[in-house]
Amino acid sequence: MTLAMLIVSGPRAAQGQQQGQPWLDPALDPDTRTRQLLMAMTRDEKVALVFGYYSSDAPWKSFKKPKDAPDQAAGYVAGVPRLGVPALTETDAGIGVASQPGPNPRLRTALPANIAVTASWDPEIAYDGGRMIGNEARLSGFNVMLAGGINLTREPRNGRNFEYAGEDPWLAANMVAAQIRGIQSNHVISTIKHFALNDQETNRETLSVRIDPAAARMSDLLAFQLAIEQSRPGAIMCGYNRLNDVYSCENAWLLNEVLKGDWAYKGFVMSDWGATHSTIPAARAGLDQESGYPFDASPYFADALKEAVEDDHVTAARLDDMAGRVLRSMFANGLFDYPVDPSLANKIDFGDHVSVSQAAAESGMVLLRNQHALLPLNNRVKSILIVGSHADAGVLSGGGSSQVYSPGGPAFIDLHIQHGPLVYLRSSPLESLASLTGARLSYDDGADASGAVRRARRAEVVIVFAHQWSAEGVDGTLRLDGEQDALITAVAKANTRTIVVLETGGPVLMPWIGKVAAVVEAWYPGSGGGAAIARILTGAVAPSGRLPMTFPRSLEQLPRPRLDGLPFRPKARLSVDYTIEGAAVGYKWFDRKKLEPLFPFGYGLSYGSVQLSDLSARLTGHSLGVRFAMVNRDSRPGRYVGQIYVGPRGGWEARGWEAPKRLVGFAKASLQPGGRTDVSLSIDPRLLAVYEDSTKSWIMQEGDYDVWLSVDSRHAIEHLSVHLPRKVLSPGEPAGAGN
Ligand code: BGC
Repeated sequence: MTLAMLIVSGPRAAQGQQQGQPWLDPALDPDTRTRQLLMAMTRDEKVALVFGYYSSDAPWKSFKKPKDAPDQAAGYVAGVPRLGVPALTETDAGIGVASQPGPNPRLRTALPANIAVTASWDPEIAYDGGRMIGNEARLSGFNVMLAGGINLTREPRNGRNFEYAGEDPWLAANMVAAQIRGIQSNHVISTIKHFALNDQETNRETLSVRIDPAAARMSDLLAFQLAIEQSRPGAIMCGYNRLNDVYSCENAWLLNEVLKGDWAYKGFVMSDWGATHSTIPAARAGLDQESGYPFDASPYFADALKEAVEDDHVTAARLDDMAGRVLRSMFANGLFDYPVDPSLANKIDFGDHVSVSQAAAESGMVLLRNQHALLPLNNRVKSILIVGSHADAGVLSGGGSSQVYSPGGPAFIDLHIQHGPLVYLRSSPLESLASLTGARLSYDDGADASGAVRRARRAEVVIVFAHQWSAEGVDGTLRLDGEQDALITAVAKANTRTIVVLETGGPVLMPWIGKVAAVVEAWYPGSGGGAAIARILTGAVAPSGRLPMTFPRSLEQLPRPRLDGLPFRPKARLSVDYTIEGAAVGYKWFDRKKLEPLFPFGYGLSYGSVQLSDLSARLTGHSLGVRFAMVNRDSRPGRYVGQIYVGPRGGWEARGWEAPKRLVGFAKASLQPGGRTDVSLSIDPRLLAVYEDSTKSWIMQEGDYDVWLSVDSRHAIEHLSVHLPRKVLSPGEPAGAGN
């Protein structure tokens, strides 16, 4: 059965019209339907629509989930049956249909972590994944997916980087937008999050990030803006943190001015679970819906909101706007016309879906090192020792609200770890390797390093699986968990043909890098991860992933060598200073400071070689177009990425840029041996401009600019220069962010 067959047939018949409910007519546009429905609603019904419950019991608050809300799920907003308004049934998140803690998690297909999907640099892969998980959400009875994590990797230790899309606004926006479009193709609303600058977990609910408004618009906010334009998500989730001292969910600058004003966003703003702190200030500042009561201290958007409207502290028009935005997104995304039905869960095509997930994992794995072309493993290798990380049974996944439990149940689960559970998905690299190689395979769990070393001496090749578990609610350290650095060093000393497969949610330091023969970054590779790893290692598929974030050499290279908030004090109201790097996130910081990273942004090797060539640039009016070619010079097919960077010639500081260069375009192509592809990109003018807060405009300054055709952010293959005219854009240009 194909995905398309399961997205239910045509829209529900418009029976409502005969019953005096014209908003049920799918032929009308969302704005008209919203207006008509609002006129029929009572104040109580409007208030009910902007108040969300947790969709699980919360015993610590003696809270029982509403009886119609799905079990072990994230959120629920009651519908209005008399008017045909469906309830909102909300599930996490980016890698699939997640389950909140409890005895009966749903078993659903897990995509690789978003960071892995982003590492594919292939929006089609992100779209296919989004379409697949959106389909599982629909068939599981959910019409909202809390998916679309796009916080930039400003803090490489952020425990949720695995849920996000790396450090560059253009790459992140293109990948997340594709995922959201895929999800919403199922008539399921997707929720881009966490708005904004919620870039570390430590003290996330109390800290305030300090940043210049212009720098925010040119970095984290730009990622949101571009992704919203490209995908029109029905909802956006404001984050836990304060931004320049004001909570994101009651930050009028962020919500009213930037999002709804400058970007003309037409969807609704829902709070993160526990991120609403008031009734009147939040409603006035632009929060449209409180989520996940009882995570908040009080039910701010229930009776208190009704009272505030009755007393005119919040206008009736604003309540209409709040409820109207929710309804409009429901109409625009087909929630009325294509109702969900949880009884269809048995129609999920897990076989098809795991192959979607596996394809994403294979596209996103990054070959970081390959001495003497040890990889791909050839079939002359007779014995392989596999060490560590439960590689006999499964692959690691990231923890927290996005946790998906995949079919068959966990291969390994630690229920007692803080911020857990820690879950290995059932997809054995060892078993898949056994089916793809003729070599004798043995497994050592790595718990006793000296034992592993003894066995490593006798093996022809050793593959050490090394991991770093990350989870929501806690930041990491850039170190592999436990004593794995020492284990790898010792094993590599015993056997020079040692390969390391990393399962991490972001960058790690690699003190052993010069001693091992090969390194593959497999991230958290999802339900088909074991097979994907085996196919990459054996060359059944060639690696084509590229790093979506810089891998630093040391903590000292970061803008904040010490993570703010450590040592941890609960509820500390600290300030995190993002004015240090401003918009110079990731490689931009490394370029600006002339730092040599361990691996640069955009980096990744393959088994074959491709030639990037024929760079040309053309200015049509004020718009810059860039062309280049990719030619596969190898004897095997492969997929390759070409990257375009631009920087002001003769001094980036003088032109107000945050760094010497920015990624302005990329393309990934599948090429047969000898095959050629010609790529043509039109560059978004904001990527060539600087945001000026005083005039609220993007200004592209006249002058000469370098254009580089590159394999990664540090290695250009061709270069030319262009002269750009001055151009001024309003903050919402060029596309506007309407829904
Ligand atoms: C997370 C959100 C998530 C929500 C609902 C919060 O803790 O920050 O990303 O969607 O929980 O589970």
